[in-house]
Amino acid sequence: MDTKKITVDDIRNAKGKRKLTMLTAYDFPLASLVDKAGIDMILVGDSVANVVLGLDSTTKVGMSEMIHHAKAVTRAVKHALVIGDMPYDSYQVNPSESVKNAERFIKEAGCDVVKLEWFDKCLEVTEQIVKAQIPVMGHIGLTPQTADKIGGFKVQGKDAEAARRLIDQASNLERLGCFGIVLECVPDKIAQMITQKLTIPTIGIGAGVACDGQVLVIHDLLGLFERFTPKFVKKYINLSDGILKAIKEYKQEVEDGSFPAKEHTFSIKQDELNKLEK
Ligand code: KIV
Repeated sequence: MDTKKITVDDIRNAKGKRKLTMLTAYDFPLASLVDKAGIDMILVGDSVANVVLGLDSTTKVGMSEMIHHAKAVTRAVKHALVIGDMPYDSYQVNPSESVKNAERFIKEAGCDVVKLEWFDKCLEVTEQIVKAQIPVMGHIGLTPQTADKIGGFKVQGKDAEAARRLIDQASNLERLGCFGIVLECVPDKIAQMITQKLTIPTIGIGAGVACDGQVLVIHDLLGLFERFTPKFVKKYINLSDGILKAIKEYKQEVEDGSFPAKEHTFSIKQDELNKLEK
């Protein structure tokens, strides 16, 4: 695999030439594996709230948790573009703090770019962050941070008017300088229209195959998150079953005394033991 660090220009230039790959990661071991597999972009997603921290909403993580996880990811990554996902309160509750918080992802955590979800002041916040020379990835369609304001966790853009709004949002984000846009839970034909209209890549999650790239939450792909599985998820492996089996085996072996075995045990020479016993 080419271990050259992927840049924002590489992502922009991939449009129309090859499909882009993106996955989330929140810690060193999984980020290392995702990077080693040659995935183009690693998102330190605020989905950490659900799949790692056991919270019921992504709005419940803040900057301190996101920076903590982002640092672990950037320590691991040599190749992929690392995207810091701005948590709800870092730009939606306090738009005036958004540039400062975006800078923390870059300077403190070592991320390359940030991502933010669409909300009513999205355009002005995006403009300010881009002006501060920080590349921004947009996110439209189902925006989990404001799901309560858009009718819940539902497919977005299902009628002509709602689809038109999504197309306008995407065009405006492109105009303001976003280098890419996540389309979450959007009908495939609308995602295709947006993808054809824009000169920047679209990255789909539940948005069909016409997008320029795809993203999934790594815990969903690995079968490590059991609370719910959206329709757009493909589980490539069921690690939960394998992990549970291994833990049960360990428990059994500790209880029956077969672990630790000789090969897991340190010894001392008999003459040293004899000295001690004297
Ligand atoms: O936080 C996240 O994992 C995301 C993806 C679903 C795109 O925003």
